[in-house]
Amino acid sequence: MYDEAFWNKRYADRNYLYGTEPNSFLAEHFSLLSSPVLSLSEGEGRNAVFLASRGLEVVGVDISSVALEKAERLAESCGVEIKTLVADLATFEPEENYYGSVISISAHLPSPVRNRLYPLIERSLKRDGVVILEAFSENQLSRSTGGPKDADMLMTVEKLKQEFPNLEPVLLHEVEREVSEGAGHTGMASVVQFIGRKP
Ligand SMILES: C[S@@+](CC[C@H](N)C(=O)[O-])C[C@H]1O[C@@H](n2cnc3c(N)ncnc32)[C@H](O)[C@@H]1O
Repeated sequence: MYDEAFWNKRYADRNYLYGTEPNSFLAEHFSLLSSPVLSLSEGEGRNAVFLASRGLEVVGVDISSVALEKAERLAESCGVEIKTLVADLATFEPEENYYGSVISISAHLPSPVRNRLYPLIERSLKRDGVVILEAFSENQLSRSTGGPKDADMLMTVEKLKQEFPNLEPVLLHEVEREVSEGAGHTGMASVVQFIGRKP
């Protein structure tokens, strides 16, 4: 349902669906990150461009070529460089012991995809590497302020504990917060926020 064609169509408009400002949880904690940063499901570039403007080297992966073309244009207009890679996270193989950090902002994936990918993410981090993740929680199902209408793709604190067993949680909780991210995410939302460090 949420495949490449779905996302390319959603991003076809010239406006930025989730705006051009970074996710606020990421903006609050970006100082914990080190390069290179792998951004899962980067979308139209708002988070990668923000991190690049703070001096970090970022690789943004997304299944949507339309999104990543917009990300490249946003980077150019802001005078920063980002790397982009069109790839399906269902088959993506990140380099081992390579990344200083991984970010995952509203990167909702089906559990079989997460179960294959997340161990590879743990493996791809260098020692002391950090994951910053924010995702809509299962409690978001009753709201219309963003996120997939599929409980399997929504997160909980328990799922995160189980799916990143080798990272030490620095922060892991569920909160309700106001989101204001373009037309795509607007209003009160239930999200899970996670910062994990590889020992
Ligand atoms: C809600 S958007 C979030 C985009 C971006 N992280 C942000 O915060 O603005 C979800 C993104 O996941 C991407 N996506 C969905 N399934 C994917 C997959 N299997 N592999 C890679 N990217 C995927 C979509 O193309 C879309 O850009």
